[in-house]
Amino acid sequence: MEIIIVENYEEMSEKGADLIAEVVKSNPCATLGLATGSTPIGVYQRLVRRNQSGEISFEKIRTVNLDEYEGLDGENPQSYRYFMNTQLFDHVNVDKRNTNVPSGVAEDMDKECERYTALLKEAPQDIQLLGLGSDGHIGFNEPGSPFEGHTHVVELEESTIRDNARLFDKIEDVPTKAITMGIADVMQAKKILLLANGKNKAEAVKAMIRGEVTESCPASILQRHKDVTVIIDKEAAALL
Ligand code: GLP
Repeated sequence: MEIIIVENYEEMSEKGADLIAEVVKSNPCATLGLATGSTPIGVYQRLVRRNQSGEISFEKIRTVNLDEYEGLDGENPQSYRYFMNTQLFDHVNVDKRNTNVPSGVAEDMDKECERYTALLKEAPQDIQLLGLGSDGHIGFNEPGSPFEGHTHVVELEESTIRDNARLFDKIEDVPTKAITMGIADVMQAKKILLLANGKNKAEAVKAMIRGEVTESCPASILQRHKDVTVIIDKEAAALL
């Protein structure tokens, strides 16, 4: 694990964007595993700028997102599909048909999980971007998720619902279930880039890096991946 501690969110975003841009430049047909949440917004802003300035092209890039809320379709402003469109896809030269987010409204969610797992197998991520839940979750793999798991539907923890409530009008509006890549789907990525900032993430960062590898802290599995870069700001690194 390479651990890079930076001053602030801006620096974290700049370095994160550098790493993704490198992958895109070295392989214009790369598959990018992408994440939602507040953490990667700065990275996406920078990727948009670099695309618009002609530094990088998404023309042949394929993307696979980590997760989606159950019950929200892509038109819903709280959905992760909507987030990805408005934060990144609408502003770069990606072909939207090459962008993939698991569906939270499939008629048969088991089939959707199988479809998404197969899609990931067929084009493994050249790089997977991850944020970090304050309880150590990655994607929506909550504590206790099996390390060998593939795409599945999960019940969200109270703490995750509380953390994400800030983006909804009221906490009752936060879906209680989601569909997420499994840990095994994340671990198949050639390269993993995890970003975390703020003191709310300090405990989880410590457990991820210094703690034992245990399903109680899903992110701790990253200790076993051979190419992981963790970029964290000073506040998130405070307990290391
Ligand atoms: C959600 C997402 C995760 C994300 C986490 C942290 O639970 N499913 O992929 O990493 O939130 O979000 P934030 O970046 O807003 O702190």
